[in-house]
Parts: sequence; structure tokens; C-alpha cells
Amino acid sequence: MKTLVTGGAGFIGSHLTDALLAGGDEVTVYDNLSTGRLSNLDSALAAGVDLVEGDILDRDLLERVMQSVRPDTVFHLAAQGEVQRSIEQPAFDATVNVVGTINLIEASREAGVGRFVFASTGGAIYGEGSRINLPATESEETAPLCQYGLSKRACEMYLDLYRRLCMFNSVALRFANVYGPRQTPKGEAGAVAIFGELLMAGQNPVVFGDGQQTRDFVFIDDLTHAILAASRSDVQGPVNLGSGEETSILDLLNSLREAGLSLNGDGPPAGTSFTPEFDRGRPGEVRRIAIDSSRATKELGWKPATPLEAGLRETLRAMGARSGTAA
Ligand SMILES: NC(=O)c1ccc[n+]([C@@H]2O[C@H](COP(=O)([O-])OP(=O)(O)OC[C@H]3O[C@@H](n4cnc5c(N)ncnc54)[C@H](O)[C@@H]3O)[C@@H](O)[C@H]2O)c1
Repeated sequence: MKTLVTGGAGFIGSHLTDALLAGGDEVTVYDNLSTGRLSNLDSALAAGVDLVEGDILDRDLLERVMQSVRPDTVFHLAAQGEVQRSIEQPAFDATVNVVGTINLIEASREAGVGRFVFASTGGAIYGEGSRINLPATESEETAPLCQYGLSKRACEMYLDLYRRLCMFNSVALRFANVYGPRQTPKGEAGAVAIFGELLMAGQNPVVFGDGQQTRDFVFIDDLTHAILAASRSDVQGPVNLGSGEETSILDLLNSLREAGLSLNGDGPPAGTSFTPEFDRGRPGEVRRIAIDSSRATKELGWKPATPLEAGLRETLRAMGARSGTAA
């Protein structure tokens, strides 16, 4: 199979690229390296991935690449992925996420792509979880509280339109809060990456709000399995991919502390207290969310397999290895 991964140098995209290569695919990564890192692709480059440094807003380049590669499947992960930036720069968010996605759909259609897998969001698309039954199913009304959630919803609607107009074959995967090795702590999105780096450096976390807000955390390896399963299926429309469980930020901090302690000498420096400090809550952030993945279980045979504690341990271990604190 020939596959093209936009955003393949990013956190999720690079894990997906590794898995596709391991399965024998010929993979092209299309990425502008704005938040992605070349180092995420170290093993993929060694395994022969083709990397095109380009922007999804560059229609000419995108069309040329698509025509020359002619992939069977496109995985579209490139995006502006930050809630706060979407609020501060809504036009930028819509341009990258909506216009960029339309460019990619058009280029894919013209190149005869057989399957289009879109990275949507389960964390930001439903809006405030306190007003609905949690975990939310795909049939729940979408009511995003931020421009990022809306731009992802708009992309899903474009995919619906193209399905009706020209039988364009696609699936929109609504990811919960994904965490794991390679996630960057530089943005504002990855709570585990941000708090994990602070813990491993012996510093205290700063929590926005009271820490009782809940999120649904899913480990990267589980998510990657789900993306592969979805790409090989005929499932259309939105599919939630999450644990179905609400974890408060304070509980996450406790689990991180315990995961760090279990690493013994490879964990945080001795005497790290990891006592949270509190700051004002941020706009656009929901109070509660968790998503129901029954559709993925029924139609893709997928269930998350990694308990939070195990996933956190693996994430911290990878952080330690990267910074040279581990053996
Ligand atoms: N991480 C999560 O918890 C989560 C949750 C829900 C949805 N998602 C979605 O999954 C996808 C991947 O997220 P991630 O966490 O790996 O983020 P990431 O920032 O690590 O990866 C995004 C990649 O896209 C590239 N990119 C950004 N803008 C681009 C552009 N205009 N042209 C070409 N490449 C561009 C970046 O360089 C980066 O490599 C995104 O679409 C994101 O919205 C992520």
C-alpha cells in the first residue's frame, strides 16, 4: 500500500508513520515542520520514508506530490492544534484547518485516493460535557466552545459533503486527549507532556482552574492501532477514540507522581514534591469531557488496552531516556 501522512513529523503522525512502515507500506510524510520535529522521524527515515517538507496551504506542491505519489490512503493529521491559539487567531486556525483540509480533499480526489482518514477531536467538538450524558457518543450534538473544535467540525462536514457529491471515502476519527512518548511539552495541549516534563525536572505543576476539570486520556499505541483499523475498514463518518473515563487534572497529577516514583532512580530527582500551584482557568476549555468508543469497538474491533498508570510510566521513561536521566 502507498500511504501519505500529513503532519507525519508530529507526535501522533510519527507513531502512525512508524506503524505503517512496520506493516510494509510505502509512506510519504508531508509536513511543514512547524510543530513537528525531524527527530521524531529518525527511525522512519532510516526505514526509507519519503519526507516532503511542505505546507497544506501550498496547493500547487500538494497537487504535484499527490499526483506523483498517488497514495491508496491519505491520513490527514496536519493541523493548527491549539485551543488558545484558535481563540487568539481564529482566521489562522480556520485557514490551516479548514482551507488546508479542503486543499487536501481536492488533491486526494483528483489523484484517485481510495480512503481518507481525518484526525478530528473528541475533546473539543462536543463542547461542555456537564450539559450532556458522559461519556459522549457520536450522536451527541456538537457544540464546540472554541474555534479549534469548530474548524474540526467544519472539516467533518466537508467530508460528509464530498461523500454525498462524489462518494469520497472517508472517516473522521475523534481523538480524546492523546498522550505518550514524543509529545511536545512546548504547546499548551498536551497536559501529560507538560506536567511530565516538570515532574522529571523536579518542578511543581501550574494548574489552570481548580484541577477538578476532567479529560479523557488515551495512550498513543492504542490510538495508533485504532487509526490503522479505521483505515482498513469501510466505516464512514465520525468515530470516537477514547477511554470513556473522566480523569480530573488533580488525579492525573497524582497518577504521574506515582508513575514517577515507580521508576525509582530513573524517575524525578529525590525530594520532588510535585505540589500543584493554581492559576486562573482558561477560556475555551471545557469543564468535563469523556467520549464513548462503543462504535469503534463494534465496527473496528478496537478497545484501548493500556491503563493510564502503565501509559504514564512508559511516557515518563521515554522522557527520562531523552534527557539522559535514565540509564
Ligand atoms: N494530541 C491530541 O491529544 C489530539 C487530540 C485530538 C485531535 N488531535 C489532532 O491530531 C492531529 C495530530 O496532532 P498532534 O498532537 O500529533 O500534533 P503535532 O503538532 O505534534 O502534529 C501536527 C503536525 O502537523 C504539522 N503541520 C502543522 N501545520 C501544517 C501545515 N500547514 N502544513 C503541513 N504540516 C503542518 C506540524 O509540523 C506537525 O508535525 C492534529 O490534527 C490534531 O488536531 C490531537
